[in-house]
Amino acid sequence: MLRRLRGLFSSDLAIDLGTTSTRVSVQGKGIVLDEPSVVAIRHGPSGTRNNDSILALGQAAKQMIGRAPGNIQVIQPIKDGVIADFAVTGEMLQQFIRRVQKSRAFQSSRRVVICVPYGATQVERRAIRESTMAAGAREVYLIEEPIAAAIGADLPVVNPTGSMVVDIGGGTTEVGVLSLGGIVHAVSLRVAGDKLDAAIISYIREKHGLVVGEATAARIKHEIGTAWHKSAARSTQFAGLHLGDGLPRSQDIDSSELHTTLSKCLYPIVGAIKTALEQAPPELSADVAERGIIITGGGALLRDIDHMLADETGLPVFIADDPRSCVVRGCAQALQGGDALGDVLLRE
Ligand SMILES: Nc1ncnc2c1ncn2[C@@H]1O[C@H](COP(=O)(O)OP(=O)(O)O)[C@@H](O)[C@H]1O
Ligand SMILES: [Mg+2]
Repeated sequence: MLRRLRGLFSSDLAIDLGTTSTRVSVQGKGIVLDEPSVVAIRHGPSGTRNNDSILALGQAAKQMIGRAPGNIQVIQPIKDGVIADFAVTGEMLQQFIRRVQKSRAFQSSRRVVICVPYGATQVERRAIRESTMAAGAREVYLIEEPIAAAIGADLPVVNPTGSMVVDIGGGTTEVGVLSLGGIVHAVSLRVAGDKLDAAIISYIREKHGLVVGEATAARIKHEIGTAWHKSAARSTQFAGLHLGDGLPRSQDIDSSELHTTLSKCLYPIVGAIKTALEQAPPELSADVAERGIIITGGGALLRDIDHMLADETGLPVFIADDPRSCVVRGCAQALQGGDALGDVLLRE
């Protein structure tokens, strides 16, 4: 009875601390926070960090990118899958956790599971753990991102079967072959959504002579971008500053124009999948060949990326349900999964 009550009122948290977005889910409630991993800091007059204060967080901070005056710095503290600024990451994490807990009536148990990028150093892991403890967690468990993504995508990670998950986020793509709850082979590439945005920016500059920012490039990617040469054509309009006279101009753009640029950026992901299949033990590669590859992360939403990867690798490719939230759902399931999943949690 007591246990049932505890389960009912507990505020166990699962956190996906991503390059692009941070997502938090609460046991029994699902995802309660999904905000950009962005912090706006107002620098104090003396120039020392002691006088700095957090001005905005998440969506509010993201809106300040490219629009802030000199004394306000807008920071994305996690870059390319690594924590570039420990202090700001810690502060961001604590504020997000507090925000979630403020809206909760019961806080009897505060177990927190939080994912760390594959290959995170001991120092990074300790920093994440300490920030989470400082936010009031009683027990903190870490989980490696490819495992969390695979659990969230409903792959049978604890079985003696090879599974392959490809998580395409903003800063990194992680390709992992998993079996028996562990990572048999994994690689983290610094090629993901942000690189596609950068490629769109350079293409538009060269081809149309216009300068656009990251937000416009991302919108174009979401609306008409495609990874596959057979995708249906789509077009959209955007505004940019002309390189010649510096004046704003609007321009049409077509998906077939972008396809070559985008698919070139995705080559390294195809290469990493092939290498993983070669380097994993043959039994596991055979399992993957039979069962296919599952894609998670926001990059899985790029139009027809599954068809392109299937063409290039010759394997079946599936997009996970709600791919952006696989990691946080996987974290939550690992925490609630009892003994069967207990071993996937890292204790240090
Ligand atoms: N519909 C879409 N088409 C293409 N890319 C998308 C789409 N939706 C989101 N993305 C991209 O997914 C990336 C973010 O993925 P996400 O898994 O949330 O990242 P992270 O794990 O780094 O926080 C961004 O580069 C974003 O532009
Ligand atoms: Mg992610």
